[in-house]
Amino acid sequence: MNIGILASGGDGAGMNYCLYNIYKKIYRNNNVFLFNRGYMGLINNDILNYDFKYIKNHKNDGGIMIKTSRCPQFQTPGGLEKAIKNLSKNNIDVLIVMGGNGSLKGAKELLKRNINIMFIPCTIDNDVLNSEYCIGFDTACNNCANFIKQVNDTMKSFNRTCIYEAMGRKCPSIAITVGNMVNADYLYVSNNCSVDSCVETLRKTIKTKDAPIVIIRENLIDIKYLKQEIEKKLDLDVRTCIVGYFQRGGMPTKIEKLYAKKFASMCVNEIKNKKFNKSIIVKNGVFVAEKLN
Ligand code: F6P
Repeated sequence: MNIGILASGGDGAGMNYCLYNIYKKIYRNNNVFLFNRGYMGLINNDILNYDFKYIKNHKNDGGIMIKTSRCPQFQTPGGLEKAIKNLSKNNIDVLIVMGGNGSLKGAKELLKRNINIMFIPCTIDNDVLNSEYCIGFDTACNNCANFIKQVNDTMKSFNRTCIYEAMGRKCPSIAITVGNMVNADYLYVSNNCSVDSCVETLRKTIKTKDAPIVIIRENLIDIKYLKQEIEKKLDLDVRTCIVGYFQRGGMPTKIEKLYAKKFASMCVNEIKNKKFNKSIIVKNGVFVAEKLN
C-alpha cells in the first residue's frame, strides 16, 4: 500500500512517538509518504525522505519531526484541488492525519473527495470531538503544573499573588486540570467567571495563604487588566506569567507515550484490515476506531 502521513495544526509531545510506532509497523511492507508541514506538504507535493533510523532517533522529542503548519490555503478550492491531485499522483491508498479539530475538518474535506483517511487526535487542548484524550494533553498539563510550582516558590518568598495564563485556545481543559494539580485558588476558565468573584475569592484566600495562585485560560480575559483590577481592590502585590509555548514542547510523559503507542497500533490494525475512514478515539477509557463521516 502507499500510505501518506501528515501532521497539522498545533504540535504536542507524543506525536513523534506515535509516528515512530506507526512507521515501525508499516515501513517494511508499504511505501510511506511523509508529507512535510501538514496540508502545505500535500499542496506542494513536499515529501520528506527520513529513514527509520532518523525517526527512531527522534521518537522521544517533543514537537513533530515531519513538521506542521496552519494552512489557510488548504481551505481554498484551489489548495484542496492541488492536494487531491498530488495524492492521486502518488497513488496514496490512505492518508493518516494527526491533528486537532481544524485538521479533522480538513481531513473530512478529503474524505468527501473519496480520499481514504485515518485520523489521530493530537492537540494539547484535548478538545477533539468524541475523544476523551488527544496526544499532547498530559505532557502539556505536566509542563504547565511544573512551571507554576516553580514560579510559586519565589512568589511564596515575597508573599506575592500570581496570575498564570494557560494555553487552550477556547478550551479550559488544561487550566482546569492544572488548577487541580497545583491547588489553584481561582480558575478564570469560562464566561461565568468574573473579576469580582476572583477578587472576593482572593480576599478570603490571603487570610491563610502566602502566595495565592490564579489561573486564567487564554483568550478569555486580559491578564494585565485582571492584575490591575485585583491590585485596585486588594492590598496585594500581583505578578503575571504567561505559560505559553513552554507547555506545548518537551519530552512526552510516560502516560503520553502509552497513549501514543495505542493510538498508533489501533490505526495500523485498521489499515491492515483495510478498514479506512476512521478516527481513533478514546471512549469510556477504551480505544475505539470510530467511523468518520
Ligand atoms: O494547538 C493548540 C494551541 O496550542 C492552543 O492552545 C493555542 O491557542 C494555539 O495552539 C496557538 O497557536 P499557534 O501555535 O499558531 O500560535
